[in-house]
Formats: sequence, structure tokens, C-alpha cells
Amino acid sequence: MEFTFLAEQFSAIYHTAAEGVASAPGRVNLIGEHTDYNDGFVLPCTLNFRTKVLFKARADNVIKVHSLNYPGESDCFSVAEPIKAGPSQWGNYVRAVAFVLQRAGHKLCGADLLIESDVPQGAGLSSSAALEVAIGGMFNSVAQLKLTPTQLALFGQQAENDFMDCQCGIMDQLVSANGQSHHALLIDCQDLSTQLVAMPTNLVVVIINSNYPRKLVDSEYNQRRLACEAAAKKLGVSSLRQTTLDAVEHNTLLSDVERKRARHVVSENLRVIDAVQALQTGDLAKLRTLMAQSHQSLHGDYEVTVAATDGLVKLSQQALGENGAARMTGGGFGGAIVCLCLPESVATLKDSVIPQYQQQFGLAADLYVCTAGQGLVVQYF
Ligand code: GLA
Repeated sequence: MEFTFLAEQFSAIYHTAAEGVASAPGRVNLIGEHTDYNDGFVLPCTLNFRTKVLFKARADNVIKVHSLNYPGESDCFSVAEPIKAGPSQWGNYVRAVAFVLQRAGHKLCGADLLIESDVPQGAGLSSSAALEVAIGGMFNSVAQLKLTPTQLALFGQQAENDFMDCQCGIMDQLVSANGQSHHALLIDCQDLSTQLVAMPTNLVVVIINSNYPRKLVDSEYNQRRLACEAAAKKLGVSSLRQTTLDAVEHNTLLSDVERKRARHVVSENLRVIDAVQALQTGDLAKLRTLMAQSHQSLHGDYEVTVAATDGLVKLSQQALGENGAARMTGGGFGGAIVCLCLPESVATLKDSVIPQYQQQFGLAADLYVCTAGQGLVVQYF
């Protein structure tokens, strides 16, 4: 939505003009799935879909927040008191970020806020990370906290872990805070160092949301984390980053499930490094192989795919042939798939994959052609 429209809406709600906007993008992970909480490598890129938070500081300690995505629902709380969960689910993300900043000793101030987002929700494209990073950026500005984008990302992750009860890793918030237009971001989750990787100009990023209803995502996700931690312990390392495929195959203490989970993580880390090189050289054949292997590993060893996303990936791989690569993206159990393909192949995905998927799974998929957008931006009007 246009800023002028959003600014008008802000004035209509609060009877005063917004003084600025903090905005942060959703993300799609190109490769490196379920590796972030294992100190591994990930290669996400930001989306051109963003969550915008228009703001105006208040003289008191009250946060008032409305969202154009949820008309008629609002939230209001004080940053001068201990922050607890409230009645609004999206409002709780705002509270969560305030809670972790307050807990770390940062002095917050009140603000009137208006949120608007075009990041698809429930698709595994990090709409919640975009909201957390934008809210963190807003507090950073109005309360002059002087935090870096990486620090804001870490607070966003803490908000998920300690307030929203989701034990996610750092990938989503870190790329939303630090991503750059037209680039993917290689993140080493062991030390949070990052490297920008230019997106090849001959390829486009296509995201297809399976619209499969995601269930039990958090509990399954947490189980995967626990299995990885158990495997690392049996392998005698602090995280699966410190081990090898050989050690995983030959360790006699690992259960079958732990071996499979560890094999996925260790092999996926290797694929990320190879994918960086393939992206840099525009090597589509290599990307096809790596993304297909990643999907297969997430299906067979990590067991986070569902029939709908397996089917969507297979249909896309068949339709794209040598002109593109496809795999599931994000946490799994439904959600979206990502394709890297030649621009002329987008029509094939739209005209052939979407109807075939509908026929096979009875679900209407949404397709987005994306470009990598800028990470967190805070602007004053
Ligand atoms: C979710 C989490 C991330 C990451 C992915 C899987 O998106 O929020 O931290 O673990 O799943 O790669």
C-alpha cells in the first residue's frame, strides 16, 4: 500500500500525523533448512513483501497499536509495567519485542503505531520475523536505543523463544534485519557473520504457497531441535556443525531417527556452501541438483515435508526441466516451495503446475515472482 494512504489512515485513527515508518521484509530460504539452530549455514534472501509500522512517539508510556490487516482489532499496553500476553495474537508480537527489550534493561517510551503488511501469512515466509524486526526498528528509533540490525534480530528471536513459545533459530530475523536488495545472504549461524551473494540476473525467484493447512508445526519443530541436540551429545560435539558425515554414519550410539536428523543437517551445510558458488557463477544445473538433494533430505531424513509440498516440488521440477530448480522452503509441514528459474519458465509454473496441483491435492496454490528487497529501513517523514 502507498505510504500516503497509510499516513492518512494513521491520522484518521490517532488524530495526529505519523512521524516515521519502520519496515522489514519477509524472507525465502534458498537452501540451508533446519541448520540455523545447529550452528550451521543458511542462504535466505529477503522478499519484496514488507511489514510497515508507522509510528509517532507519545509523551507517556503507552503503546497503542492498530493493524490494517486486522480491522477493528487493536492492542494497548504500558511499557512502564511488566509486559504480559494480551488478547490479540498479532498484538502479542509487539508486546513480545517490548518485553525482551525491557528485560534487557532498555528504557522504552510510548508510541502510537499502525501496522500494514503484504507478507503472506502462514506460508513459512517469516511474516512474524518481519513484524518483530520492524517493531524492534521502531523502538530503536523512538527510544534511541542505538542497537545494530543484528542486535535487533537477536531480540526478535528472543521474542519468539521467550514470549511466543516458538524455539526458532536466528535465520529469519537476521536476514530481515540485514538483507540487501538483489542479494541473498549467506549466514554462518555459529558466529552470525554474513556474506552478501548477488542474485544471478538471469534467474528469477518464484515462491508457490501450497496453502496446505499447517498443523503441529511448533511441536514438530521443537522435536527436531531436541533430536539434533541429542545427536550432537552422543557424537561428543557441542553442535552438529562440529561433526562429519562419516562420524554420523559410524557412531553406534545414535538411534535411527537421530542418525537421519544429523545426516540431513551435516549434508545440508555442505550443500549451502556449494550453492553459494553455484549462485555466484549462475550455474543452474548445479543449483538444480543441490535443491533437489535438499528437498529429498528434508523428505527422507528430516521428515518435515507433506504430500502436498512433495507433490508441488515434483510437479515444478518436471515442468521446469533444465530451466529451473525447486525445493520446499522454511520450517515445513506445509507452507511454500521455492523455485529458481529462467524468466520464460514462470508461465509454465502458472499454467501447468498450479492447475495440476489443484487437481491432485484439491488446493489452490498462490504463486509469487519475487525480487530480494532491502532489509530493515527506518525513515522519518
Ligand atoms: C523456521 C525458523 C527458522 C529455521 C527454519 C528452518 O523458519 O523460524 O529459524 O529454523 O524454520 O530452516
